[in-house]
Amino acid sequence: MLFKDFIFNYKSCLHCLLKKKEFFLFGKRIFLLPYKYISSYLNDLLKNINIDKQFSLEDKSFDGLLKYFDCDKSSFVHGYSKFYLQELEKFKKLEINILEFGIHFGGSQAAFSKYFSKANIIGVDKNPYFKKFYSKKIRSLYCDVSDRNSLKFLKSYLDIKLDVIIDDASHIPDHQLITFIETFDLLKSKGIYVVEELDVFKSLPEGYNPNLEIESSDLRNFLHHLNNQNFQNVKKYIKNHEILDKINKIEWVKIFRGNYEINGKNVSEIAFIKKI
Ligand SMILES: C[S@@+](CC[C@H](N)C(=O)[O-])C[C@H]1O[C@@H](n2cnc3c(N)ncnc32)[C@H](O)[C@@H]1O
Repeated sequence: MLFKDFIFNYKSCLHCLLKKKEFFLFGKRIFLLPYKYISSYLNDLLKNINIDKQFSLEDKSFDGLLKYFDCDKSSFVHGYSKFYLQELEKFKKLEINILEFGIHFGGSQAAFSKYFSKANIIGVDKNPYFKKFYSKKIRSLYCDVSDRNSLKFLKSYLDIKLDVIIDDASHIPDHQLITFIETFDLLKSKGIYVVEELDVFKSLPEGYNPNLEIESSDLRNFLHHLNNQNFQNVKKYIKNHEILDKINKIEWVKIFRGNYEINGKNVSEIAFIKKI
């Protein structure tokens, strides 16, 4: 992690905790975060796999890389790789900027970095210190996608425009909605915004939807109308002005379904949104 990114991560996390009046966590994180930074720095040096070094790999396809780095986008789990290839292959040899919400072990960012070999990658997570892979081309930033302030903080720190944004963080509809509203404008013209697991909240309500009364997702409904070419009528059905304001900036929306099932229901719905 770059030192300047750690300073941003530190300030951003503490600032958001103060705004939410979470004083106990604030006090704890003042001391815990420098420790986490030092241990993640030592892990990068001593333990994490340096993916910038040459390593032999039989299957260098995008799906092969996702499997190698144990990422659930591969055909072993959600089966999103074919959709990513279809929509992003044109970027393969270009110098692009990719930002992904959701790091976990960093498998996805590692696979993207290997396949899109000239790309700069930014992973964003509420815990950006926990990953298994190291590359000079991958940065790790803090953001809590449940908190608009945190998203605004991230936005004001980023000094680049993005070619691809992927939302693979909490999968909670309200978080997907505010993440989209706050960050869609960071995309360059012709950039692609991706939302994974658009409908997993229906199959796992207790895990993904803390407010069980909410049965639908404004963002998902909006995207389905646009996927069905319903650009004219969408205003009849969607009342949220902040997403409606994005319509004139959207060229198309495509929604696909991958493979993964929970409790007998497919939960692998993914949307690709192209900016005009
Ligand atoms: C499915 S994992 C990401 C996997 C990764 N994109 C990949 O494909 O290898 C989800 C990640 O979202 C993060 N997350 C969950 N809630 C979050 C929140 N409110 N803000 C930011 N990140 C969050 C978790 O810490 C976890 O690392």
